[in-house]
Amino acid sequence: MDKGNERRSLLITSNVAAAGHTAAAYSFLHVSYLVPFTLRLPACMSLMAIVLTVTPIDPATAQPARPPAFAQCAGCHSTQAGKTLFGPSLAGVSGRRAGTLPGYAYSPALKASGLTWNAKTLDRWLTSPKKTVPGTKMPFNGLQDPKSRAQVIAYLLTL
Ligand code: HEC
Repeated sequence: MDKGNERRSLLITSNVAAAGHTAAAYSFLHVSYLVPFTLRLPACMSLMAIVLTVTPIDPATAQPARPPAFAQCAGCHSTQAGKTLFGPSLAGVSGRRAGTLPGYAYSPALKASGLTWNAKTLDRWLTSPKKTVPGTKMPFNGLQDPKSRAQVIAYLLTL
């Protein structure tokens, strides 16, 4: 294989690898230095497409941005530590035993649930709070859309 072909095939492989991975996208950029300008333009355009499709990240904190579906929770839950609204603050909820934030008057049902909040328990809870913990006082029917639910959970785990 001559040099030109080798570079082009490198570009193609890295282009495929870059499809889902930011890390791969960086090596892809690196490779694009080696190829002639005429090949670089489409390469840059596909890189831009990758950057645009990545989940939005808040540059200040490098955490996933608050997803739109969290608006349904925000009326009852603050994300600031110690700030109680109708529901308990969700700051630090990841890894917390359900119903244990000091100073919040939980339902006996949630306190006795034995749940610890992680991706799996939050998924059950947010699909149907009332089925997961019968007797809970969280008056919310659940987030039925799996994509919105996953986005809210990813966000909760960063709080
Ligand atoms: C109408 C008010 C209301 C809405 C809307 C609501 N919650 Fe709640 N939430 C509560 C209340 C009240 C509790 C306490 C439940 C209990 O003690 O049984 C609670 C409890 C929780 C807990 C358990 C916290 C702990 O410390 O154990 C989590 C997690 C939670 N909510 C997440 C959410 C998320 C995420 C949403 C949005 C998808 C949401 N809630 C929507 C009122 C609400």
